[in-house]
Amino acid sequence: TDLAIGVHDLSLRTTSLVLPHAELARYNGSDVAKYHKGLGQRAMSVPTEDEDIVTMAAAAALPLIERHGPDDVTTVVLATESSVDQSKAAGVYVHSLLGLASNTRVVEVKQACYGATAGLQFAAGLVHRDPRQRVLVIASDVSQYDLDSPGEATQGAAAAAMLVTADPALLELTGPSGLFTADVMDFWRPNYRATPLVNGKESVAAYLDAVEGAWRDYRSQGGLPLTDFRGFCYHQPYTRMAFKAHRQLLETAGAHLDEEALHRDVAPTTSYNETVGNSYTASVYLALTALLENRDDLDGRTVGLFSYGSGSVAEFLAARVRPGYRAHLRQEAHRRAVEDRQVIDYATYRSLRERSLPTDGGWHELPHRTQGPFRLTAVRDHQRIYEAA
Ligand code: CAA
Repeated sequence: TDLAIGVHDLSLRTTSLVLPHAELARYNGSDVAKYHKGLGQRAMSVPTEDEDIVTMAAAAALPLIERHGPDDVTTVVLATESSVDQSKAAGVYVHSLLGLASNTRVVEVKQACYGATAGLQFAAGLVHRDPRQRVLVIASDVSQYDLDSPGEATQGAAAAAMLVTADPALLELTGPSGLFTADVMDFWRPNYRATPLVNGKESVAAYLDAVEGAWRDYRSQGGLPLTDFRGFCYHQPYTRMAFKAHRQLLETAGAHLDEEALHRDVAPTTSYNETVGNSYTASVYLALTALLENRDDLDGRTVGLFSYGSGSVAEFLAARVRPGYRAHLRQEAHRRAVEDRQVIDYATYRSLRERSLPTDGGWHELPHRTQGPFRLTAVRDHQRIYEAA
């Protein structure tokens, strides 16, 4: 088919608080260079009492609905691995907060950090069936590891909302997908745990195996050669991982390892992730947004996306940047979302981490702290109550 399908608009939001790694290092005695250089992380977003994946998802999606209207949004796909309910899809709250029509389908998708890419493919399939449809795909996650564990330095939170349509203004999904699935226990979270279990070194190795597997599959399906790409967006549990991954890709492709090219192809993708932290499902879409905003020479060019979810499932896909894309970007709003976060000290972070929502079924109001447009106002009768802030 000649019909171009892809991302028409893209919007990011994060939380209202931020903990700098310098402050984490001051508390735990680590050399801050380990965080800044070793992991490539400078700060992590921290949610207030009244922020969660629902408030971030709705805040990310609101500008899309304001710009394009709610009409023809037939489906909302929300991908997350930090879900707030085992049964009800978080997207139903978002649908309600955004005032979308009742004749909409809403579903939640999960496969660790990979989920939103599955959502994107689901959306593309729906638009292919009926090109009038617009599908809202949202990735929203809060990543939290055990306190004082090595993973703590890679925490973060953000949401990315995308409107998937025919004849998109930003990106056209093209060609085959390179796929890779392997049953590994690198990172997982049993239902009874609030934080994941992680085999740190194994998770890095599993990620790199998936890069190799997905790229080999992509090429065997007739995908483009390496030299056709003008940038590579990787899932970034921490931004150094993107550079490790790209080295692995170049090696797999048998390409010469040129450090300058490595920097050019990956460095423009890390600006959000290094200050927001790991946003799991949203991370690779924060990388994509950064690439589109930081480069101005991508009209008609192809960029690569590598999506990885522990456990593990990975996909490599190519997207063609639509000519004139820069006119549709939202870098000013994104800059504000990141810069307006309030800096907190370690003690404040720790006390936020050590609290949890009451589970007694009583009525508990939450303090108004968020700077965002929506908030979790209370829990009552085991129900989460959301409102416009
Ligand atoms: N100056 C500069 N660099 C320093 C340094 C210093 N003072 N001290 C250490 N470093 C470097 C190290 O050399 C190392 O570099 P390499 O990766 O190139 O070897 C890097 O900083 C990290 O140091 P360590 O390996 O000692 O760090 P660690 O033991 O604290 O663990 C981690 C790192 C395994 C990533 C840990 O943060 C973790 O468990 N994170 C959570 C899991 C994760 O993010 N896995 C990534 C792949 S899985 C995935 O992608 C899915 C997902 O989202 C979770």
